[in-house]
This record gives sequence, structure tokens and C-alpha cells, in this order.
Amino acid sequence: MSHDLFEAASAAMSKAYAPYSKFPVGAALRTQDGRIFAGCNIEVASYPEGWCAETTALGHYIMGGGGKITEIAVVAERMARITPCGGCRQRLAEFSTPDTKLYLCDETGIVQTVTMGEMLPFGFSGVVLKQA
Ligand code: THU
Repeated sequence: MSHDLFEAASAAMSKAYAPYSKFPVGAALRTQDGRIFAGCNIEVASYPEGWCAETTALGHYIMGGGGKITEIAVVAERMARITPCGGCRQRLAEFSTPDTKLYLCDETGIVQTVTMGEMLPFGFSGVVLKQA
């Protein structure tokens, strides 16, 4: 079943707009009820304005109604296996749980499976003990 999420991430990667880095990335999320949302990285001539594949996928996920994310796949080429950048780990954590599975892929398939809890230990939760 996880292979279809890799396939969705891979299809998204083929749509990447990455003329500056020439490093296409694809990401796909599955919700508990089986919906899949995918995204690619989108770069901009003013480099810091570009954004990651995971962020595009999260935009589709929110617009598609959200829900509990149970699995995430990220894929890139020319890398043993891609791991989400720090900012995307925090964004993914916002909408997933520590047991959400994360498939780290190369262009041929899933190389390693980890959990979001393993990928972002001690992530910022925003929970404060006392109101100001
Ligand atoms: N990139 C992603 O899309 N996801 C990541 O988790 C890491 C980096 C993109 C951003 C940029 O377009 C390119 O990879 C090179 O950094």
C-alpha cells in the first residue's frame, strides 16, 4: 500500500519547477480516510521565495479538507534518500502525530521508513503552561 504513496510523490516530482537548483522533489500525504495529496517544489528567481514539495502537498491537503495524516512520502533523485528540511518537518508535524509514518525515498522507491516523532524530536508545540 505504501508503494502507491511513493508513486504519487514520484508523479508530483515530475511536475517540479526547479530551474535554479535543478533538484526536483515530490511529496505525498495520505489521510486516515485514504485521500492522497501531493506536491512538488516551486522555485522563484528570488531564491528565498521558493518553497518545498512538502509545503505544496500541505496546501493541497488543507484545501482538500484536511484530516489525520497517517503516511507521508518524500522523493528526490541523486540522493541515497531524501529527508524533509527542518521547516517542513515543523509544518508536517503541525498536521500529523508522532506515529505518522514517513517514507524516505530515492527515485526507485522507499529506502527507509521512520516516524514523524523520530524525524522531529523535541519539535516546538506552541503549548504554553500559563497564559500571559
Ligand atoms: N526541497 C524540497 O522540496 N523539500 C525538502 O525537504 C528539501 C528541499 C527543495 C527546495 C529547493 O527547491 C530544492 O529542494 C533544493 O534545495
